[in-house]
Amino acid sequence: MFGPGELCDSVRPAGPHASRREFCFSTLGRAAAGVAGNVFPMPEFPDPAAHPRVRFVDSFAALVAAPWADGVNAYCWRRTLPGDFGEVVARLGQREGLTDLDAAILRALPLSPAGRAASEVLCADLHLLQEQGLEPLLDCFDAYPRDEAAGAVATDVYSFHADRAPVPAATFLCTYFGAPSEGVDNAQVRRHVEIPETRAALRREFGGPEGPEFEAFLTEHCYDLHYAPLPEARPYSFGLGHLWRIAIAHPGCPVPPCVHRAPPTVPGQTRRLLLIS
Ligand SMILES: [Fe+2]
Repeated sequence: MFGPGELCDSVRPAGPHASRREFCFSTLGRAAAGVAGNVFPMPEFPDPAAHPRVRFVDSFAALVAAPWADGVNAYCWRRTLPGDFGEVVARLGQREGLTDLDAAILRALPLSPAGRAASEVLCADLHLLQEQGLEPLLDCFDAYPRDEAAGAVATDVYSFHADRAPVPAATFLCTYFGAPSEGVDNAQVRRHVEIPETRAALRREFGGPEGPEFEAFLTEHCYDLHYAPLPEARPYSFGLGHLWRIAIAHPGCPVPPCVHRAPPTVPGQTRRLLLIS
């Protein structure tokens, strides 16, 4: 189990401009090409266009302005990006853990024209989000820590979860290279804290009765943000190169939060290049 503010990235500790990392997931299937230059195993997923809570937009302005209404909790600016993002990842080298990237680092890399084109896309996306007053993180990494000490509910980002903020906010994310993040219909998951056996286990961990203090315990440990997929659940992929804006849990949010997760770590799998804000 992760303590608050440690490895669980589901809660924004500060205001709408607080940034945090996403750690989201997938299984291996056929080989497929996504963004130009990126070819690696991709799972089979249903088309998110068929998802009732997903809508597509054709510009960044539309992505930012799209309202949370009619149950829609995920907007996708679908893009086919130029450039070779794999070259950027390769040029960064096999570094331990997670590498935070910024425009200065990207522009200092020795890249071919295709790699340079990808680098400029990354810089442009960072700039777009920064212009919105956000603090995007662009990370290159192998994997994120798992909740090795998980009890009744694992609170790492490989688990389906919702993000949360104390004020109105949304999560932006884009996978440029590696396994993309996944979303799932809210009707295809159930909160762990609503499953009687799991709730009973959490009560034992809490050591007290039902009531406000127990509810506060569930919130403090992010247990209330994590979901178990139902047997019929069919996650959809966020894909490569597409910039998403997803709804998160906050007071007054008119739609359910978008439930999502990080792709599972597969030995030998390529590193991920992910933007999140
Ligand atoms: Fe998340």
